[in-house]
Amino acid sequence: MPQSVVGCQKLELDTPALCIDLDVMESNIKSMAEYIIGQGKQWRPHEKCHKTPAIAHLQMRAGAIGVTCAKVSEAEVMAAGGVRDILIANMVVGPKKWERVASLCRSADPIIACDHYAQVEPLAEICRKNGVAPRVIIEVNIGLDRVGSRPGRDTLELAEGISKLKGVRFAGIMGYEGHLLRVEPVEEKRAKIREAMGVLQHCHDLIVGKGINCDIVSAGGTGSYQFSTECPGITELQAGGGIFADPMYQKLCGVTGLKYALTVLATVVSRPMLEKAVLDSGRKTLNPDTCLPIIKGFPDAEITRMSAEHCELKLGGESQRLKIGDKVEIIVGYADFTTVLHDEFFGVRGDRVEVVWPILGRGKIQ
Ligand SMILES: Cc1ncc(COP(=O)(O)O)c(C=O)c1O
Repeated sequence: MPQSVVGCQKLELDTPALCIDLDVMESNIKSMAEYIIGQGKQWRPHEKCHKTPAIAHLQMRAGAIGVTCAKVSEAEVMAAGGVRDILIANMVVGPKKWERVASLCRSADPIIACDHYAQVEPLAEICRKNGVAPRVIIEVNIGLDRVGSRPGRDTLELAEGISKLKGVRFAGIMGYEGHLLRVEPVEEKRAKIREAMGVLQHCHDLIVGKGINCDIVSAGGTGSYQFSTECPGITELQAGGGIFADPMYQKLCGVTGLKYALTVLATVVSRPMLEKAVLDSGRKTLNPDTCLPIIKGFPDAEITRMSAEHCELKLGGESQRLKIGDKVEIIVGYADFTTVLHDEFFGVRGDRVEVVWPILGRGKIQ
């Protein structure tokens, strides 16, 4: 996309176009940074919602210490974009990936998560041969039951094993409370998160009790960070998606204090009936699976069906004024699965396009 759209009006953009309201995103970044840092924790936001080094730099300017990634290839993109302190909060397995981690150590200071010795021993051997030693943290299963070592003896033994290896540096532990994002009521959510964070703290204490440094205790997603930040023992938060604060977080997880920042600008391409409009933004533009998108400014317009290239709306009285050629904004339900469908973000301030950011991590899935 040529940069010539910079300076044009948002409504002049061709559609579909993935737009960030820059004022809102910056305010969300500031709120998250102030909340987390204000409670004495560090912020290492997950970059999976944006996959864009330029946005990571905005987060770091607001106080983030680096980023969290899911994949080695995402970490490579961040490193090439000038981010040094990168947590890969995921299992890294296979000789090709271990080699890539060793190479990454030349341009960045990565931290690799693991939950078994079989992931770390070969990584350490390859790193040793390359004369580097990345930090390693253990992912502990704090109830999500996805990956993670069992809390207690298993985690302690793994920490002891890793700390003896040359070629990696044991740096701490992490857990992700993804199973608690939608717990209601709020007091029960707070209590359950505190309990899950307590599991991490207990593991930390066991490890430190054996004389092993365990400086990093990392947790927290956007759906839970307001509570996990409060918990003692947690040193850093991975919450990232709050910079866009999609309906997934606000409507399904009850997150407060942040505003919607990410929309798809779409065009009405058909008006088959008074109470029906069709937009040019289907599932190849906008993933509705985790949380249904919302039509901005038209509360009585409801998404009834999405196919590859079409989004069908049922229109109430107010939205029936929409006509073919009109542009509307669709608030993205959950950014992660929509960002990866686009080549660039259009950063909009007020009505004016201020910046175009290529989504450099798009397609980086290895
Ligand atoms: C390991 C890990 N950390 C943190 C998060 C939270 O990310 P976000 O704040 O973008 O929801 C996730 C979400 O899937 C995750 O898998």
